[in-house]
Amino acid sequence: MTQPVVGWESTEPVPEGTQFNSYLNVRNGRLHMEDLDLAQLFLGGSGPGIGRTLPSPLEIVYLPIISRQIEFMNAVFAQAIEDVGYHGRFIYTYASKANAAEEVIRTTLSAGAHHEMSSTVDVDIARLMIRRGLLPQDRLIVCNGFKTNGSAYADNILRLKDEHPNVIPVIEDLSEIAPFLNSRHPFEVGLRQKSYGPNTTLTEMDAANSRFGLASNNMWKAADYIAAAPNLTLKLFHNMVGSQLTDKASFVDYLKPGIELYAQLRQRHPSLSIFDFGGGMPVAMTLNFDFDYAAFARQLLTTLKETCARYHVPEPDVMGEFGRYTTSEHGAHLFKIITDKENDSETPWYIIDGSIMSSFPDSWALGEHFIVLPLNHLDKPFQRVQLGGITCDSDDVYPPKKSHAPLYLPVETDNLYIGFFSIGAYQEMLGGVRGSKHCVLPEAMELVVYKDENGRYQFDLLPGQTTADVLRNLGYQLI
Ligand SMILES: Cc1ncc(COP(=O)(O)O)c(C=O)c1O
Repeated sequence: MTQPVVGWESTEPVPEGTQFNSYLNVRNGRLHMEDLDLAQLFLGGSGPGIGRTLPSPLEIVYLPIISRQIEFMNAVFAQAIEDVGYHGRFIYTYASKANAAEEVIRTTLSAGAHHEMSSTVDVDIARLMIRRGLLPQDRLIVCNGFKTNGSAYADNILRLKDEHPNVIPVIEDLSEIAPFLNSRHPFEVGLRQKSYGPNTTLTEMDAANSRFGLASNNMWKAADYIAAAPNLTLKLFHNMVGSQLTDKASFVDYLKPGIELYAQLRQRHPSLSIFDFGGGMPVAMTLNFDFDYAAFARQLLTTLKETCARYHVPEPDVMGEFGRYTTSEHGAHLFKIITDKENDSETPWYIIDGSIMSSFPDSWALGEHFIVLPLNHLDKPFQRVQLGGITCDSDDVYPPKKSHAPLYLPVETDNLYIGFFSIGAYQEMLGGVRGSKHCVLPEAMELVVYKDENGRYQFDLLPGQTTADVLRNLGYQLI
């Protein structure tokens, strides 16, 4: 397996003008996120910026990248539909579980995305967006997640239907049909196939150990119950097979048993018209990421086309629920190196003014890699180092403990700032927003970056936690 490339892999300075990926580049020895000089946020300088320096650590929420991702994927599928001569539409849906922050949801909806959710609070987020005019009537609202009879989530979905015509509950289990069947509303509904995992046959898929979705015998039963219900219409087939699936051929292979089942179901239930492949679309979290989105889209549409032709059923609209792909790259977390420690460890330790494990739980829990680059001193020599968080936890390190990925940072550590990049999906949701964190470290200030209609940078600053916030949160009375 190839080693993840997490940053600059040399002792040499980074050449001026280096473009690390689509949004990180080097100018005047400093790292820029598109045109934004990141070191300037701490050290000052010329060029577009906030006009003052900010304290470290600092979270960056770079909204233009979210819109760019959505536009790119819509263009990829539009081209693939033309290339393949496909007869269905592509429906880009944002999976809000990846990052439910207000500015993120606002941006995905403004870019035209449909909306996917998984819990009762999500319903209230959708309601707020409807009231603000950001989630208009022509958008689909796909409700995944467990929605058992009588649960707050099921009840809330029923109420949401009063405010929006296109709420589509996706049934995970036979028992989830009842609340919608017994409601006074007509509902278009989806059915989720138990398909999570690397299954390439229907038998494997049915035998898989997954708590999501219906095995195929119950899928047929559920489809028949829905067809018999006067107020329910079967609209969508949900077939999510995994997460961050970087091998496009395997991705399509895992979808094939579900595609076959979709076509069989469609023969019996002509109201079915959406094939939803769920999440799993990969995104660059390291610098050696390579995924041919266009080839994937063509391969998926070709498979759907061929399968539907075999069963003499129309080609469905294709939905993807893009979580990680939509939000990973818009998030960065910047830190200062507060000390470099040579204590006869194999590799010198650089200590940051924050926590790696509570800021990026996937790195600690799953050994996930993210991009790490210095913000300044890029024009100076580098050395191989390891990063440590400021907590007392031995797991608060980067690269992750079992990783062999080398990490190089400048030898010069005077006023050295670094950034973790592509951390905008799931990390904040898993680590928690507000609340109390490991070793009672307060949460960092957040800089929300967006562009006005003339393409000029605009900024909103969201305050971090104060000591008093953390103490109060832990139950202390401040006397
Ligand atoms: C039902 C469903 N849809 C979409 C997603 C988003 O997946 P991803 O972040 O891989 O795009 C998830 C993630 O767990 C999910 O459970």
